[in-house]
Parts: sequence; C-alpha cells; structure tokens
Amino acid sequence: MSVVKWRDSYNVGIEQFDQEHHKIVDLINLMFEAVRDKSSKDVVEKICQDVLSYTEYHFANEEQALREIKYPNLEEQLSEHARLRAETQRLQEIIKDRFPEGTVEFYHFLREWLIQHILESDKKYGPYFQQAPSSEGAAT
Ligand SMILES: [Fe+2]
Repeated sequence: MSVVKWRDSYNVGIEQFDQEHHKIVDLINLMFEAVRDKSSKDVVEKICQDVLSYTEYHFANEEQALREIKYPNLEEQLSEHARLRAETQRLQEIIKDRFPEGTVEFYHFLREWLIQHILESDKKYGPYFQQAPSSEGAAT
C-alpha cells in the first residue's frame, strides 16, 4: 500500500472536476496515512465523514453539469453514483462496528473506486463537454 500519486492520465479535461478529483485523492491519501499510522477511531471517522461529504458534493456537481449538457450516459453515471454512495455509507458503518479492521477495507474500496470512477466512468464524459455549446458564449 502507498499513497496515490496524481497522474496526468487521471485528468478528465474539465478543470473543476479535475480539481475535485484531486481533492478526493488527497482525502484517500489521508485515509492511507491514518491506516499506516494506526490513528485513533475518532481521526479515522472524521476522515471517513470528510470523504463522504466531499464525494457527495462532487457527485452533485457532476450530476448537475451532466444534466446541463444532456449527457447521453447520464443514467449510467447516476446509478454508479448511487451504488458508490451506498457502498461508502456501508463501509462507514463497518468502521464504526469493526475498528480498526474495517478501515483497511474502506481504504481499499476507495482506491479501487477512484481508479474505476475517474479512469473509466468520468473519462467518458470529457469529450461531451468539449462538444456542448458553452453557456457563457451562448449570448454572443
Ligand atoms: Fe467524478
């Protein structure tokens, strides 16, 4: 196990979402450090809550933007978000009930999810933003 290093290949090409994904990577790395340093349950639960809150914020932003550009794979993206929300909440309960073992499970899920979410699902929407008419330019 090691920290996740941001790679250029993670960029989806939309600055806001690249920044948000970057922040998610930072949170995952905080979780890694907590596991590595055998941090207290309070510390781990706080990071876990931060991951949940931030991913919720990120998903809401993505969903709104994808609706605006009438992204054809919107339903697929929404159901993935729903699945990830449910899984993250389930793992949050596991951390509560089975600390510290549950922390490792949570960390592994986050890493796998990150790669799958960004590299597979989110990468697909990049080109649609380039094609969509810009709302700023629409009035000119
Ligand atoms: Fe995303």
